[in-house]
Amino acid sequence: MLVIFGASGDLTARKLVPALYNLYKANQLPENFVVLGVSRSNMTDGEFRRKVVLESKFLEEKKKGESLDFINSLAEKFFYEDLGADYNLEYSKLATRISDLNNKYRTDHNYIFYLSTPPSLYEVIAKNLSDQELNNEEKGWKRIVVEKPFGYSLGTAKELNRGLQKYFKESQIYRIDHYLGKETVQNLLVTRFSNSIFEPLWNRNYISHIEITNAESGGVEKRGGYYDTSGALRDMFQNHLMQIVSLIVMEPPIDASALEIRNEKVKALKSLRIMRDEETLFKNTIRAQYLASEIDGETVKGYREEEGVNPESKTETYAAIKFFVDNWRWKDVPFYVRTAKRMPTKVTEVVVHFKSPHHQVFKDSDMGNKDNKLIIRIQPDEGILLKFGVKVPGQGFKVEQTHLDFSYSDLGETVVMEAYERLLLDAMQGDATLYARADEVEAAWDFVDPILDYWENGKDVNIYGYSAGVWGPSNADDLLEGDFKWRNPTE
Ligand code: BG6
Repeated sequence: MLVIFGASGDLTARKLVPALYNLYKANQLPENFVVLGVSRSNMTDGEFRRKVVLESKFLEEKKKGESLDFINSLAEKFFYEDLGADYNLEYSKLATRISDLNNKYRTDHNYIFYLSTPPSLYEVIAKNLSDQELNNEEKGWKRIVVEKPFGYSLGTAKELNRGLQKYFKESQIYRIDHYLGKETVQNLLVTRFSNSIFEPLWNRNYISHIEITNAESGGVEKRGGYYDTSGALRDMFQNHLMQIVSLIVMEPPIDASALEIRNEKVKALKSLRIMRDEETLFKNTIRAQYLASEIDGETVKGYREEEGVNPESKTETYAAIKFFVDNWRWKDVPFYVRTAKRMPTKVTEVVVHFKSPHHQVFKDSDMGNKDNKLIIRIQPDEGILLKFGVKVPGQGFKVEQTHLDFSYSDLGETVVMEAYERLLLDAMQGDATLYARADEVEAAWDFVDPILDYWENGKDVNIYGYSAGVWGPSNADDLLEGDFKWRNPTE
């Protein structure tokens, strides 16, 4: 049984139910699977079913051509219980409802508690579940899934971890990071560790630098209030991008188990060089906000004009960070990572830049600074691009760059699961490989915390502006020290 706290919220209708729809359609849900939605709103089972299944705009596309029987049979798996205004009441009523549903649908006392609520409620909910012995695994398993943001800082993340661990064992806690549910993010592991043509080169001897770009064309949309207390570093960098970094940096795990993979990821995150002094932070971090601009004849608001945003806000919608990794493999290899809203397009990619050959044999080469690159396209057009030089036909040895390109779409009928589908299924099956462990989250915060502190409290820290629809402020080029340019995927 999946018990969703915060079930009347956006995430349930927008992400969780569509993922359950796909799993149900693909026959991947257990036959006796049921969902119990829980939140503060007063709703009947019927109203909840209408809201998240029968009349949900997020299922409109999927439902096209589907029989009514199929849709109704899915809707009948959804139930609802309200929990009172502060999520602190009526847990005995909730426990009775869970028990009744368990008896009726024979769910074997196996429960996932999915917390899609503000993090301030995590501990309250965990404690109340524990008071009702709903953490007890004597009969059936019990798992608790928590959404981001997982903490606001290292201190608050530790508090959250301690709060949850008072009532649930670490092995019962699943911290979701939807980027880990993306096929292409998982494919980073496969690309590295199943190809003898990449892994031997994956180190300081052959790689000059690593570049990661996460760009979104949208602004803060209707989430200005939340975003203004968060910013790009907390919203994207501390979690999604640090996860990608850990998969690039990590050493080969002994096997593909959750334990071994996560052990290596923690080691990787702990080896990032933490920047503590103002001079280093000044030289290696850039933050900026989007400004009003005309895009395709339409005026796009600046960040400070967005609803819910403080007109004098210093919250960043663009963050670019340069850092180093203090270990044998990565010594002196700079990592450049940037994330931003209101960029020219939505794209996430990792670019592995290889060093030039030690000795240039072909002087008449127009390779220029176009060294070998491995470009891993996380989204969209998921795939891998390898850039290398070939001889230009004709006299002499003129070298030109060409590429090998693989797109997941080339796999034809193979259906690529959406992130939440994969992650929900893994939680049901007790596979925590794609969930973040407590020490992983804390190691990521350890790195990010001093940057946030510097941006919030440092002396005269600039916040630059960039016009909506361009690749960020030109000051971000200063990070690169003139050695190379950012690879802007649309240029
Ligand atoms: C979320 C952030 O975690 O990820 C959003 O809170 C962001 O601000 C979103 O838009 C991006 O996810 P994706 O999968 O669309 O790249």
